[in-house]
Amino acid sequence: MRKIIVAVDGFSSCGKSTLAKALAKELSYVFIDSGAMYRAITLYFLREHINWNDEQAVLEALSNIKLHFDYNEDRGSSDIFLNDENVELIIRDMLVSENVSEVSTIKAVREFAVEQQQQMGKKKGIVMDGRDIGTTVFPYAQLKIFVTADNAVRVERRFKELYDKNPSITIEEVRNNLEMRDYIDSNREFSPLRKAEDAVVLDNTNLTREEQLKIALDLARAKKLDVQTS
Ligand code: DC
Repeated sequence: MRKIIVAVDGFSSCGKSTLAKALAKELSYVFIDSGAMYRAITLYFLREHINWNDEQAVLEALSNIKLHFDYNEDRGSSDIFLNDENVELIIRDMLVSENVSEVSTIKAVREFAVEQQQQMGKKKGIVMDGRDIGTTVFPYAQLKIFVTADNAVRVERRFKELYDKNPSITIEEVRNNLEMRDYIDSNREFSPLRKAEDAVVLDNTNLTREEQLKIALDLARAKKLDVQTS
Protein backbone atom coordinates (compact mmCIF):
# COMPACT_ATOMS: atom_id res chain seq x y z
CA MET A 1 0.00 0.00 0.00
CA ARG A 2 1.43 3.38 -1.03
CA LYS A 3 1.43 5.87 1.79
CA ILE A 4 2.21 9.52 1.35
CA ILE A 5 2.71 12.70 3.36
CA VAL A 6 -0.04 15.30 3.14
CA ALA A 7 0.87 18.88 4.11
CA VAL A 8 -2.00 21.23 4.98
CA ASP A 9 -1.01 24.87 5.46
CA GLY A 10 -2.82 28.17 5.78
CA PHE A 11 -3.69 31.14 7.97
CA SER A 12 -5.10 30.84 11.48
CA SER A 13 -8.67 29.63 11.84
CA CYS A 14 -9.32 28.83 8.21
CA GLY A 15 -10.37 25.26 8.88
CA LYS A 16 -7.01 23.54 8.33
CA SER A 17 -7.20 21.28 11.36
CA THR A 18 -10.80 20.28 10.67
CA LEU A 19 -9.87 19.29 7.15
CA ALA A 20 -6.57 17.62 8.07
CA LYS A 21 -8.21 15.61 10.85
CA ALA A 22 -11.06 14.39 8.63
CA LEU A 23 -8.69 13.58 5.79
CA ALA A 24 -6.43 11.56 8.09
CA LYS A 25 -9.43 9.63 9.35
CA GLU A 26 -10.60 8.77 5.82
CA LEU A 27 -7.12 7.68 4.79
CA SER A 28 -6.40 5.89 8.10
CA TYR A 29 -3.38 8.14 8.47
CA VAL A 30 -1.90 9.81 11.54
CA PHE A 31 -3.01 13.43 12.04
CA ILE A 32 -0.59 15.91 13.59
CA ASP A 33 -1.57 19.45 14.55
CA SER A 34 1.84 21.14 14.44
CA GLY A 35 0.37 24.36 15.89
CA ALA A 36 -0.37 22.45 19.08
CA MET A 37 3.39 21.97 19.53
CA TYR A 38 4.08 25.72 19.30
CA ARG A 39 1.17 26.34 21.64
CA ALA A 40 2.45 23.82 24.21
CA ILE A 41 5.92 25.39 24.11
CA THR A 42 4.32 28.83 24.61
CA LEU A 43 2.31 27.52 27.55
CA TYR A 44 5.50 26.24 29.17
CA PHE A 45 7.28 29.59 28.62
CA LEU A 46 4.35 31.49 30.14
CA ARG A 47 4.02 29.21 33.14
CA GLU A 48 7.74 29.22 33.86
CA HIS A 49 8.11 32.96 33.16
CA ILE A 50 10.77 32.33 30.56
CA ASN A 51 12.16 35.49 28.99
CA TRP A 52 12.01 34.37 25.36
CA ASN A 53 14.19 37.25 24.21
CA ASP A 54 17.06 35.61 26.08
CA GLU A 55 18.56 32.95 23.79
CA GLN A 56 20.18 31.01 26.61
CA ALA A 57 17.00 30.94 28.65
CA VAL A 58 15.08 29.63 25.62
CA LEU A 59 17.60 26.85 24.97
CA GLU A 60 17.55 25.80 28.60
CA ALA A 61 13.75 25.84 28.70
CA LEU A 62 13.52 23.76 25.51
CA SER A 63 15.83 21.16 27.03
CA ASN A 64 13.21 20.69 29.76
CA ILE A 65 10.29 20.26 27.38
CA LYS A 66 9.06 16.88 26.20
CA LEU A 67 6.13 16.80 23.81
CA HIS A 68 4.16 13.82 22.63
CA PHE A 69 0.79 13.08 21.09
CA ASP A 70 -1.56 10.37 22.30
CA TYR A 71 -4.73 9.19 20.59
CA ASN A 72 -7.94 10.22 22.36
CA GLU A 73 -10.74 7.78 21.49
CA ASP A 74 -13.50 10.22 22.53
CA ARG A 75 -12.28 13.03 20.29
CA GLY A 76 -11.16 10.73 17.51
CA SER A 77 -7.79 12.47 17.25
CA SER A 78 -4.58 12.96 19.20
CA ASP A 79 -4.14 15.11 22.30
CA ILE A 80 -0.85 16.87 22.95
CA PHE A 81 1.10 16.22 26.16
CA LEU A 82 3.58 18.64 27.68
CA ASN A 83 5.92 16.76 30.00
CA ASP A 84 3.25 14.05 30.36
CA GLU A 85 0.43 16.49 31.15
CA ASN A 86 -2.49 16.57 28.73
CA VAL A 87 -2.64 20.24 27.66
CA GLU A 88 -4.87 19.85 24.59
CA LEU A 89 -7.58 22.16 25.97
CA ILE A 90 -5.57 24.72 27.88
CA ILE A 91 -3.33 25.54 24.90
CA ARG A 92 -6.41 26.99 23.11
CA ASP A 93 -6.74 29.73 25.76
CA MET A 94 -6.54 33.36 24.67
CA LEU A 95 -3.35 33.98 26.66
CA VAL A 96 -1.54 31.28 24.69
CA SER A 97 -3.10 32.50 21.41
CA GLU A 98 -1.85 36.02 22.12
CA ASN A 99 1.75 34.90 22.57
CA VAL A 100 2.18 31.85 20.35
CA SER A 101 3.01 33.68 17.13
CA GLU A 102 5.81 35.60 18.82
CA VAL A 103 7.24 32.44 20.38
CA SER A 104 6.99 30.76 16.96
CA THR A 105 9.36 33.34 15.44
CA ILE A 106 12.26 32.09 17.58
CA LYS A 107 14.77 30.08 15.55
CA ALA A 108 15.58 27.62 18.35
CA VAL A 109 11.89 26.97 18.93
CA ARG A 110 11.32 26.26 15.23
CA GLU A 111 14.31 23.93 15.03
CA PHE A 112 13.09 22.08 18.12
CA ALA A 113 9.59 21.59 16.66
CA VAL A 114 10.57 20.93 13.04
CA GLU A 115 13.02 18.17 13.96
CA GLN A 116 10.31 16.31 15.87
CA GLN A 117 7.77 16.86 13.09
CA GLN A 118 10.17 15.41 10.52
CA GLN A 119 10.70 12.34 12.72
CA MET A 120 6.94 11.81 12.84
CA GLY A 121 6.81 11.81 9.04
CA LYS A 122 9.49 9.16 8.60
CA LYS A 123 6.97 6.37 8.14
CA LYS A 124 4.75 8.48 5.85
CA GLY A 125 0.99 7.92 6.21
CA ILE A 126 0.63 11.30 7.92
CA VAL A 127 -1.45 14.45 7.49
CA MET A 128 0.15 17.43 9.21
CA ASP A 129 -1.31 20.90 9.38
CA GLY A 130 0.50 24.15 10.11
CA ARG A 131 2.16 27.12 8.43
CA ASP A 132 5.42 25.76 7.03
CA ILE A 133 4.67 22.08 6.49
CA GLY A 134 4.79 22.16 2.68
CA THR A 135 7.72 24.59 2.55
CA THR A 136 10.05 23.61 5.41
CA VAL A 137 8.97 20.50 7.30
CA PHE A 138 8.10 18.30 4.32
CA PRO A 139 9.14 20.12 1.13
CA TYR A 140 8.83 16.77 -0.67
CA ALA A 141 5.30 16.00 0.57
CA GLN A 142 3.40 14.27 -2.24
CA LEU A 143 0.25 16.33 -1.61
CA LYS A 144 0.22 19.93 -0.39
CA ILE A 145 -2.99 21.80 0.28
CA PHE A 146 -3.08 25.51 1.09
CA VAL A 147 -6.37 26.33 2.80
CA THR A 148 -7.87 29.82 2.67
CA ALA A 149 -11.16 31.48 3.60
CA ASP A 150 -12.49 35.05 3.69
CA ASN A 151 -11.29 36.99 6.73
CA ALA A 152 -14.79 37.78 7.99
CA VAL A 153 -15.72 34.11 7.81
CA ARG A 154 -12.58 33.09 9.69
CA VAL A 155 -13.28 35.63 12.47
CA GLU A 156 -16.87 34.44 12.75
CA ARG A 157 -15.87 30.77 12.97
CA ARG A 158 -13.19 31.42 15.57
CA PHE A 159 -15.52 33.64 17.60
CA LYS A 160 -18.17 30.91 17.75
CA GLU A 161 -15.57 28.38 18.83
CA LEU A 162 -14.21 30.59 21.64
CA TYR A 163 -17.54 32.03 22.75
CA ASP A 164 -18.76 28.62 23.93
CA LYS A 165 -15.84 28.45 26.36
CA ASN A 166 -15.68 32.14 27.22
CA PRO A 167 -18.87 34.20 26.69
CA SER A 168 -17.12 37.44 27.67
CA ILE A 169 -14.95 37.36 24.56
CA THR A 170 -15.68 40.00 21.91
CA ILE A 171 -15.53 39.75 18.14
CA GLU A 172 -12.96 42.61 18.15
CA GLU A 173 -10.60 40.63 20.36
CA VAL A 174 -10.85 37.66 18.05
CA ARG A 175 -10.35 39.80 14.93
CA ASN A 176 -7.33 41.58 16.44
CA ASN A 177 -5.75 38.32 17.48
CA LEU A 178 -6.21 36.76 14.04
CA GLU A 179 -4.85 39.85 12.26
CA MET A 180 -1.85 39.99 14.56
CA ARG A 181 -1.08 36.29 14.11
CA ASP A 182 -1.48 36.47 10.31
CA TYR A 183 0.94 39.37 10.24
CA ILE A 184 3.59 37.79 12.47
CA ASP A 185 3.25 34.34 10.87
CA SER A 186 3.68 35.77 7.36
CA ASN A 187 6.48 38.20 8.12
CA ARG A 188 8.78 36.32 10.47
CA GLU A 189 12.35 35.69 9.42
CA PHE A 190 12.44 31.89 9.77
CA SER A 191 10.06 29.81 7.63
CA PRO A 192 7.26 32.35 7.30
CA LEU A 193 3.81 31.25 6.21
CA ARG A 194 3.91 30.88 2.43
CA LYS A 195 2.02 28.81 -0.08
CA ALA A 196 4.43 26.22 -1.45
CA GLU A 197 4.73 26.57 -5.22
CA ASP A 198 3.31 23.11 -5.77
CA ALA A 199 0.46 23.46 -3.25
CA VAL A 200 -3.18 23.34 -4.34
CA VAL A 201 -5.26 26.25 -3.01
CA LEU A 202 -8.51 25.26 -1.36
CA ASP A 203 -10.78 28.21 -0.56
CA ASN A 204 -13.47 26.95 1.78
CA THR A 205 -15.37 30.23 2.30
CA ASN A 206 -18.49 28.80 0.69
CA LEU A 207 -17.88 25.12 1.27
CA THR A 208 -19.30 22.79 3.89
CA ARG A 209 -16.92 20.52 5.79
CA GLU A 210 -18.11 17.61 3.67
CA GLU A 211 -17.51 19.48 0.43
CA GLN A 212 -13.98 20.50 1.35
CA LEU A 213 -13.19 16.97 2.52
CA LYS A 214 -14.40 15.56 -0.79
CA ILE A 215 -12.11 17.91 -2.72
CA ALA A 216 -9.15 16.91 -0.56
CA LEU A 217 -9.95 13.21 -0.89
CA ASP A 218 -10.17 13.54 -4.67
CA LEU A 219 -6.75 15.19 -4.64
CA ALA A 220 -5.39 12.32 -2.55
CA ARG A 221 -6.97 9.73 -4.85
CA ALA A 222 -5.44 11.47 -7.82
CA LYS A 223 -2.07 10.61 -6.28
CA LYS A 224 -3.04 6.98 -6.94
CA LEU A 225 -3.10 6.13 -3.29
CA ASP A 226 -4.67 2.96 -2.11
CA VAL A 227 -7.61 4.94 -0.74
CA GLN A 228 -10.92 3.20 -0.17
CA THR A 229 -13.97 4.86 -1.66
CA SER A 230 -16.80 5.09 0.84
O1 DC B 1 -2.62 26.35 13.93
P1 DC B 1 -2.64 27.22 15.20
O2 DC B 1 -3.43 28.47 15.04
O3 DC B 1 -3.01 26.43 16.40
O4 DC B 1 -1.11 27.66 15.40
C1 DC B 1 -0.72 28.48 16.47
C2 DC B 1 0.49 29.29 16.11
O5 DC B 1 1.62 28.44 15.94
C3 DC B 1 0.41 30.12 14.83
O6 DC B 1 -0.05 31.42 15.09
C4 DC B 1 1.80 30.13 14.31
C5 DC B 1 2.46 28.92 14.90
N1 DC B 1 2.71 27.84 13.96
C6 DC B 1 3.85 27.91 13.21
O7 DC B 1 4.58 28.89 13.30
N2 DC B 1 4.19 26.89 12.39
C7 DC B 1 3.40 25.81 12.27
N3 DC B 1 3.76 24.81 11.46
C8 DC B 1 2.19 25.74 13.02
C9 DC B 1 1.86 26.79 13.84
